Parts: sequence; C-alpha cells; structure tokens
Amino acid sequence: MGIKQALKSLDAFPRAEEHLMQKTRSGAVVSIIGLAIMATLFLHELQYYLSVYTVHQMSVDLKRGEILPIHINMSFPSLPCDVVSVDAIDMSGKHEVDLDTNIWKLRLSKDGHIIGTEYISDLVEKGNTDHKHDAEKMVKKVKQALADGEGCRVYGVLDVQRVAGNFHISVHGLNIFVAQQIFEGATHVNVSHVIHDLSFGPKYPGLHNPLDGTDRILRGPSGTFKYYIKIVPTEYRYLSKEVLPTNQFSVTEYFVPMTEFDRTWPAVYFLYDLSPITVTIKEEHRSFLHFITRLCAVLGGTFALTGKITGSLDVQVFGSIDKIN
Ligand SMILES: *[C@@H]1O[C@H](CO)[C@@H](O)[C@H](O)[C@H]1NC(C)=O
Ligand SMILES: *[C@@H]1O[C@H](CO)[C@@H](O)[C@H](O)[C@H]1NC(C)=O
Repeated sequence: MGIKQALKSLDAFPRAEEHLMQKTRSGAVVSIIGLAIMATLFLHELQYYLSVYTVHQMSVDLKRGEILPIHINMSFPSLPCDVVSVDAIDMSGKHEVDLDTNIWKLRLSKDGHIIGTEYISDLVEKGNTDHKHDAEKMVKKVKQALADGEGCRVYGVLDVQRVAGNFHISVHGLNIFVAQQIFEGATHVNVSHVIHDLSFGPKYPGLHNPLDGTDRILRGPSGTFKYYIKIVPTEYRYLSKEVLPTNQFSVTEYFVPMTEFDRTWPAVYFLYDLSPITVTIKEEHRSFLHFITRLCAVLGGTFALTGKITGSLDVQVFGSIDKIN
C-alpha cells in the first residue's frame, strides 16, 4: 500500500477525471495550427539532419617532392599560335623539359572556331636558329594569320616539381628580328587573354578557382601581366572515406604597361608559390542524438506553447462565444 501511494505521488502528469475535461472548437483550431507548425519544424530539422556539412582543419604541410599538376585552358584572341610559346621554370632555374608535358595549342579562327591543333613537345624557348629564308616565310605566315584575326588557345596539363616557380606564355620563342618584323614594336603585341580554367588539381564540391572565366582585354598599348599565385595544398575527404588531394589558390595580379624603349616583350606570367599550411576538408554527417534532442525541444516546445494558448483563448475569447452559443 505504502509503495503504491509513493509511486502515485511521483506521477508528473496528473489527469483530471474524464467528465471534467472538455473539448472545445477553439482548442481544435489551435491544435491544428500547432500540428502544422510541428510538421514544418520537423521537416526542417530532418532536412538539416540529412544534410552533409564540411569541417576545415589546418596543419603544416608535410608532403615532399611530389608533382604539382597545372591545368591550363586559356585563349589569346589576337595572337596566332605560331608566335605563342609556353615556358615553365621552377625556383632552381630548372626548365621543365624532362617532365611529361601535355600542352596543346589550338588555332582559333576570328569567330572562335578551332581550325588546327599543335602539340607542344618542348617547353624551352628556343634560341631561334631560323635561316633567313625560313624567317621570311614565318613572317609572311604570321602576318597573314594576324590579318585574318586568328587567335590561339593553350590548354593542357603541366606537371611541375612541387616548389615555387613560374610559367609564362609569350612570344619569347621568336627570334627578336622576326618578332620585330611581325609586330613592328613590342607595344603592338596584343596579349589580351581569356582564362577559361586555371587550376592546380582536380575539383571538389565547393571549390572556387578565382581565375576561371576571367578576361583581360587590352585597349591601349601592350604590356606584361603578372599573376602572383599562392597555392594552398588541400585534401578533400569524402563521406565515403575517399581522399582527393588537390590545391586551392589565391591570386593577386598586376599589369606593367610597355613603353617604346623597353627591351622586353609582352608576356603573361604566372608566378606561383606554395603555402606551408595545408587545409583538410572533411565531409561529415550530423549526429543522430543531436537530431533527436533538437526534435524533442522543437516538438515539445510547440506542444506546450499551443496548450498554453488554448488555455488562455478559452478563457478570454472563445469562452465567451461558446457561452453565447
Ligand atoms: C577550354 O575552355 C573552353 C571555353 O570554356 C571550352 O570550350 C573547352 O572545352 C575547354 N577545353 C578543355 C580541354 O577543357
Ligand atoms: C587586342 O585584342 C582584343 C581581342 O581581339 C581586342 O578586343 C582589342 O581591341 C585589341 N587591342 C588593341 C589595342 O588592338
């Protein structure tokens, strides 16, 4: 007997007798509204729980001596492929000749159609040994291409050592005298360019490469573009435990206009450096217990609130209407 009484006194939900409870219309209305709110909040919480979020972690880069892939896809609307050269040099002054390069030059017609391809097998700027006859032929060919409004797209992957370095796209492959005859002065080399894609590794969800889709069109005299690139090694870990090593980067740029007396020729330089900090981005599920906790708070809270509202409405508004009825 004593134990039963004690248990009863612990009941946190005392109920009134059935005949003392009353169902009202006002109560029904508020209950329905409450249910709608609960359903909305439940769906919102469920969606939140099912969504994947990412955690960013930083640490010092411990990788050594790997290859850095540079993906290039850019167009020079006013430079024929015959004059365009690509060169890459790393910090040690090493030209990337012994690495596999996969760079293609596509000849573009005036309206942007591809009219020819050429594979660049050798990135070193040749100290041109053109014979006089060849040079004349070259000048004629390029002048024709310029008159036709031919452009050039450079695309492919450049595998370089994982140390600071630069690569540039220029007319440096030409013999100075040939270049002089073609362009009649360095200020006329129109190095306007469109960067379709410049990246240092595969893409992961949410990656934004700052140079993709940018263009730099020259209106006045030519000059040299320099892009200073800071590469941040990044590792993306999928939910499936798959790991994608890649790189993000930040970039600052500047343009040096050319004067008549400059000895150099216009070019587009990409000078890159590696950050000592790597970023790890991890995809994660949300915690199930956390979901349940939030659900209890939201549903219980709404239930309690609607209960209170029914109570006060009963007394103030509907109560009187009910009475009149
Ligand atoms: C390079 O970019 C152009 C323009 O966006 C695109 O049409 C072309 O398919 C790209 N080339 C490669 C190899 O991705
Ligand atoms: C350079 O080439 C671009 C693209 O073809 C063109 O829009 C621009 O007017 C040219 N600039 C000069 C100074 O000729």
